[in-house]
Order: sequence, then C-alpha cells, then structure tokens
Amino acid sequence: MVEKSLVLIKPEAVSRGLIGEIVGRFETRQFRIVAMKMEILSREIAETHYGEHRGKPFFEGLVSYITSGPVVAMVVESPGVVAMIRTMVGTTDAALAAPGTIRGDLAQSIAENVIHASDSPESAQREIKLFFS
Ligand code: PPS
Repeated sequence: MVEKSLVLIKPEAVSRGLIGEIVGRFETRQFRIVAMKMEILSREIAETHYGEHRGKPFFEGLVSYITSGPVVAMVVESPGVVAMIRTMVGTTDAALAAPGTIRGDLAQSIAENVIHASDSPESAQREIKLFFS
C-alpha cells in the first residue's frame, strides 16, 4: 500500500548545507517526493508537532531548536515508506546511530539529530495536515 511520511530537515542540517545530501538519499532509494517547502516554523506549529512530548524535560529546548532557523518539510511517498525511512534515519540519539544511517553519518547528538521522520502512518497523516494544510 502506498504510504506517506512527513520528513523535516532540521535547522542545523539546513545551515550546514545538508539538504542535498539528505534529499539525495531519498531520491536514490527511489522514493517519490510529492511536496516540499522551506520555512521557519512558528512556535504554535512546533508545539503542536511535538505535542506528545509536552511536559518532558527536553520539550522547551526541542521547540526552541526547531524554530531557530529554517527547516525543509517534505512529504515522501512509497509503499512501506514510514518504516524504511525510520531505518534510514537511525536511532534518535545520533551518538548511537549506526554508520550508513543519516544520523549515524551526519550527526552526533540527540539534541541536534538533523532529521525528523514520522514514526507511524497515523502520525504521518496528522503531521502532513499540520505542515501542508
Ligand atoms: S522518537 O524518535 O519519537 O522515537 O524519539 P523520542 O525519544 O520519542 O523523541 C522525540 C523527539 O524529541 C527529541 N528528543 C530530544 N531533544 C533534545 N534533547 C533530548 N534529550 C531529547 N530526547 C528526545 C528527539 O530528537 C525527537 O525528535 P524528532 O524530531 O521526532 O526526531
């Protein structure tokens, strides 16, 4: 079944010039990129996007970080794409991410881990509505 995932290239990856590297990996994997935009997220969008983490110790830092500069938001489509992208992205804490994954190759920490990707098809639907209303 064709599935969609919402991917964010996070501010430090944009400022480090990694957009092409990350988008290229999805294109090489033959995923379809069906929407893409660059923008600075409002606090409201960021807090809604990360709403399930409200109250956790890292929530404020996460919202400040994701709104600190432009992100690239995109919708990637392919059968089974959510799980495949999560595998390509690697573990949340980039310090532990396997080499060959996006975080394992491009990042070092949990706080600046270069990319977000939906964790389920249901999350993807909610996130896509938020970013591409
Ligand atoms: S995940 O990917 O949803 O399974 O991971 P989770 O642990 O639930 O983390 C959700 C997002 O919160 C970010 N995060 C943190 N940011 C800063 N500091 C700390 N300690 C921290 N822990 C988790 C993490 O990068 C996830 O962001 P996204 O954008 O979803 O990858």
